[in-house]
Amino acid sequence: MTKVLVATEKPFAKVAVDGIREIVEKAGFELALLEKYTDVAEFYKAVEDADALIVRSDKVTKEVIDHAKKLKIVVRAGAGFDNLDLEACTSKGIVAMNTPGQNSNAVAELALGFMIYMARTNFTPVAGTELLGKRLGIHAYGHVGRLVAMKAKALGMEIMALDPFVPAEKIEADGVKVAKDVEDLYSSCDYVSLHIPANDQTKNSINYALLSKMPKGACLVNTARKEVINEADMAKLLAEREDFKYITDIAAGNDAELKAFAPRYFSTTKKMGAQTKEANINAGLAAARQIVDFIVNGVTKFQVNK
Ligand code: 3PG
Repeated sequence: MTKVLVATEKPFAKVAVDGIREIVEKAGFELALLEKYTDVAEFYKAVEDADALIVRSDKVTKEVIDHAKKLKIVVRAGAGFDNLDLEACTSKGIVAMNTPGQNSNAVAELALGFMIYMARTNFTPVAGTELLGKRLGIHAYGHVGRLVAMKAKALGMEIMALDPFVPAEKIEADGVKVAKDVEDLYSSCDYVSLHIPANDQTKNSINYALLSKMPKGACLVNTARKEVINEADMAKLLAEREDFKYITDIAAGNDAELKAFAPRYFSTTKKMGAQTKEANINAGLAAARQIVDFIVNGVTKFQVNK
């Protein structure tokens, strides 16, 4: 029987798991669950006889792929697929997919919440500031970036965006100004919300030179990936500029060092951008459907290792 393994160190909400089970079993497949695992050896063992795999931010390394004897497809239930070793998948003929857009609203809402949290001095009684009239830079105008822009517009923020992969007219049609370049974006905005993926081009790219261009009282909001930040540069900037703030959904590699700058630095204990029932249902069920569609009908829409 075709076996679908859901391996989630950070589990989906139960309602999402129930939905995944329903889709999988309706197709005549079997569901196996590996949740909250603490040792990667548990993942190696569980994947051995799986035909299909659903993960979240779980690292699907070459070692995981080497342990998988029957695997045909892996779906990252979410947007970023930097946790999948695509080369290892391709070399064994395994199709890798993501589920773009399915958890975007949850991440966008968190980005907005982060801005309010920082503007209102970490919900302490110290007088804060308002978002109304402040300038927000959206760094990458994909599913999440666009939703953040739309929601922030409703709060009366002035929005600017940068995305070389999205036509300027499309951004402008949303009433969003297009930044000339990355320097323009950072130097023009009180808040910058990061939505770039982590890849060879973007890793460490948010550095001192760029961040130091941000105006007085600026705040960087990171619901993307910690790897895109040059963390040593961030520590230097936070030390030099008492007005600068950084809030991140993914604790920095040098979290302990940056925590010394609290309340200007804040990190969640576990990545929670996509951790809503709705996002779990949307992304989890989409992943299950994509697996069934691939195994039954050969559909490869959303494949990322073509
Ligand atoms: C994504 O890329 O979809 C988000 O970062 C969500 O990650 P998560 O599934 O680990 O919460």
